[in-house]
Amino acid sequence: MNKKTIIILIIIILIAIICFATLNGLKNNENIADNTGIENIMESNANLNKKVLVVYFSAQDHTENIAKQVAKNLNADIFEITPVEKYTEEDLNKNESTSRVSREHADETLRNVKLTTTKVNNWEYYDTILIGYPIWYEVSAWPVDSFVRSNDFRGKTVIPFCTSAFSGIGESAKLLEEKTGTGKWLEGYSFESSASESDVKKWTDSLKLN
Ligand SMILES: Cc1cc2nc3c(=O)[nH]c(=O)nc-3n(C[C@H](O)[C@H](O)[C@H](O)COP(=O)(O)O)c2cc1C
Repeated sequence: MNKKTIIILIIIILIAIICFATLNGLKNNENIADNTGIENIMESNANLNKKVLVVYFSAQDHTENIAKQVAKNLNADIFEITPVEKYTEEDLNKNESTSRVSREHADETLRNVKLTTTKVNNWEYYDTILIGYPIWYEVSAWPVDSFVRSNDFRGKTVIPFCTSAFSGIGESAKLLEEKTGTGKWLEGYSFESSASESDVKKWTDSLKLN
C-alpha cells in the first residue's frame, strides 16, 4: 500500500465515523422528542381525570353505607370524620332532654366537637370533594362543621349529600358553605336513610364525574 492509498483510507474511515456519530445523535434526539410527547399526553390525561374524595360523618351507619357506595361508584378515595368522643346510642337519644345531642342542640357553644383529625392526606391533590352527613335537627350533624372550618376548599368543587328521616337537605348545605367561605359548592342531594344501591347509582351517574 502506497502512502496515497493509506491517506485515502484514513479519510474514508474518518468520514464513516463522523456519519455514524451524526446519525446516532439524530436518533437520540428523536427519542428525547418521543419521550417528551408521551409525558405531555400523560399530563393532559391526568388533567382530564377528576381526583375525587368522599368525606363523610355518620353516627348510625346510614350515611356511611351510602358514602361507601358513592366512593365505589366514582372510584373515589374516602375519609371518615370521627369525633374524639364517639356518639353512643344514649348520646343520640333526642327524646331525652339531658342526652348529649339534646344538650348540644340547646347550647350551640357545645357543638364545637373535637375530631380525631381534620387533616386529609394529600388534600391539595383532590379537585372534587363530596361531603356526606346525617341531618340533625334540620341542619348537618355538627361534627361536619369542625371539619369544613378546618379545611381550605379554594379551587375545589364541593358536592354535599345527606341522609335524613324526613326533612331532606334543607338549608344544611348552604350553612356549611357559609362556614367554609371557600370552594364552589354545587346543589346538595338528599337520600332517605335506607336508600337503595340503585338510588345511589342513579345519583352518582348524574354527577358525570367519571
Ligand atoms: C340527634 C338526631 C337528630 C335528627 N334530626 C332529624 C331531622 O331534623 N330531620 C330528619 O329528617 N331526620 C333527623 N334525624 C334522623 C337522621 O337524619 C337519619 O336517621 C340519618 O340517616 C342518620 O344517619 P347516620 O346513620 O349516618 O347517623 C335525626 C337523628 C338524630 C340522631
